[in-house]
Amino acid sequence: LGSDHGGFALKEEIKEYLTGQGIEVRDFGSFHPEAVDYADTAYPLAKAVAAGECEKGILCCGTGIGMSIAANKVKGAYAALVSDTYSAKRSRLSNDANILCMGAFTIGDKVREELTTVFIQNDFISGSSSQVKVDAYKEYDAER
Ligand code: RB5
Repeated sequence: LGSDHGGFALKEEIKEYLTGQGIEVRDFGSFHPEAVDYADTAYPLAKAVAAGECEKGILCCGTGIGMSIAANKVKGAYAALVSDTYSAKRSRLSNDANILCMGAFTIGDKVREELTTVFIQNDFISGSSSQVKVDAYKEYDAER
């Protein structure tokens, strides 16, 4: 989990939600609600996910936009900015996203927990019609 100041309260909420379900969480900060740039959290979290140290990542900022752009600069990070449950599910089934980005200013209280659950409970469908598309961006990424 990671956030900037805009996503701090949301990140804390998601942490409580996940730990309450017995899911192990690593917190990349921010550890306080004062100003912190989203890239300072997005890079270390995205690197940990890309390295396989963490199974998946969740990044929260005001809109989720800064986090998603920053995380997607890291090789092996596939961050999806999502605000509805259908997209959260497709981000895993079709896109094999490994990081969920959410906007604290834009997503309703109940939706944010559902997005989290849908994201962590679904897996990419290997060999589906999406495989070739996902392979294309992973190959491009590997060659960077
Ligand atoms: C707040 O600083 C806001 O700019 C940030 O949380 C995020 O929305 C940027 O994408």
